[in-house]
Amino acid sequence: MLHKLFKMPKRHVGLDIGTGGIKLVELEGRTAKPRLKVWAGAPLPQGIYRESQIGDGRALSDRIRELVAKSGVSTTYCVSCMEGQHVFNRFINMPAMSKEEVLEAIKWDAEKYLPYAPEDCYLDAVILKGAPGVQEMKVLLVAAGRKIVDAHAAVLQQAGLQPVAIDFGALALGRALLDGSAQKNRVILDLGAGSTKMSFFKGAIIAFSHTIPFGGNHITRLLQDELGLSWEEAENYKARQTDLLAGRGEDLTEVENMRKLLRLAVGDVKREINRSLAYYQSRNREEPLSQMIFTGGGSLLPGLKEMLLADLDLQPVVADLSRTVAYGPGFAKTSLQSLSPLFGTALGLALWEGKA
Ligand SMILES: Nc1ncnc2c1ncn2[C@@H]1O[C@H](COP(=O)(O)OP(=O)(O)OP(=O)(O)O)[C@@H](O)[C@H]1O
Ligand SMILES: [Mg+2]
Repeated sequence: MLHKLFKMPKRHVGLDIGTGGIKLVELEGRTAKPRLKVWAGAPLPQGIYRESQIGDGRALSDRIRELVAKSGVSTTYCVSCMEGQHVFNRFINMPAMSKEEVLEAIKWDAEKYLPYAPEDCYLDAVILKGAPGVQEMKVLLVAAGRKIVDAHAAVLQQAGLQPVAIDFGALALGRALLDGSAQKNRVILDLGAGSTKMSFFKGAIIAFSHTIPFGGNHITRLLQDELGLSWEEAENYKARQTDLLAGRGEDLTEVENMRKLLRLAVGDVKREINRSLAYYQSRNREEPLSQMIFTGGGSLLPGLKEMLLADLDLQPVVADLSRTVAYGPGFAKTSLQSLSPLFGTALGLALWEGKA
């Protein structure tokens, strides 16, 4: 958790402010598998928010307020998150100690661990392994600039919400998509509008996280430029096509040229993904990854998963929220499946319990 703002209330909603849209989830029931009570989403026009950076705070808080009012959620307490390139994360080993002692130690030696001066950032430490008596433990450090976090919290308050905590997006996704019993080593690939997030997990414990600065917006822009479309037209075109990445010989029509550029762009992302996988595997040789879990709206692009997985020995898994949440009354199983790529982060935030 990046920033805990208030004492934990009884209930809260999970609010994922993404570059492409806002998503809201409220759960009911406190069992191991709570029920989905409310889910709601609204697109965000370009320029309002991009990867944790606020472009237009007033417009953003207005959109959030409208979505909250329309959705019918029963509380104004919320947990949101920050992620992507403006959130620093680092995995370190430390002698066994309490979280407070970790934070104190990091602050004393900030230059060694953080890209910020301690007074300029919010910092949290998540103890990943180790119990009393164990010599060494693994710790995830998460930090973000004070200004960017304060601006985020201010937008939520302007929208009439009471922020309880600001989480790290990768932790939220792990909570939503991985069940605790899972022993496999997996990577969650979140193909968002602004960027692609890779989060590596050993069982349900996060082990590494990396952001690639390429998302669905880049594809939309490419379509816009190549086909002379408005942003909205390009977004609709993208969602309607079933064979955008397919090759059709050397025909140099406008559309074929656009396809070729798109395949080149996806090829660049694939190289980045492969580099990150190779780096992770080289440091975890004895624990090979077995699955790649796809999430984020960008994963809906037909043919993309196949292209990204080509020559990788990883089983593809499509994110399925029904593993962690039950259907509330009025939700069909199919509707939950179609929500899965878009609402993973919001669900993970709704599942937040004040623990990492
Ligand atoms: N059917 C579809 N086919 C292709 N792309 C799609 C489809 N539906 C949505 N997208 C794309 O998914 C992206 C939005 O996904 P998502 O909601 O996961 O992003 P976000 O969370 O807002 O962004 P980020 O996580 O990068 O901040 C947009 O680029 C959108 O064009
Ligand atoms: Mg997202």
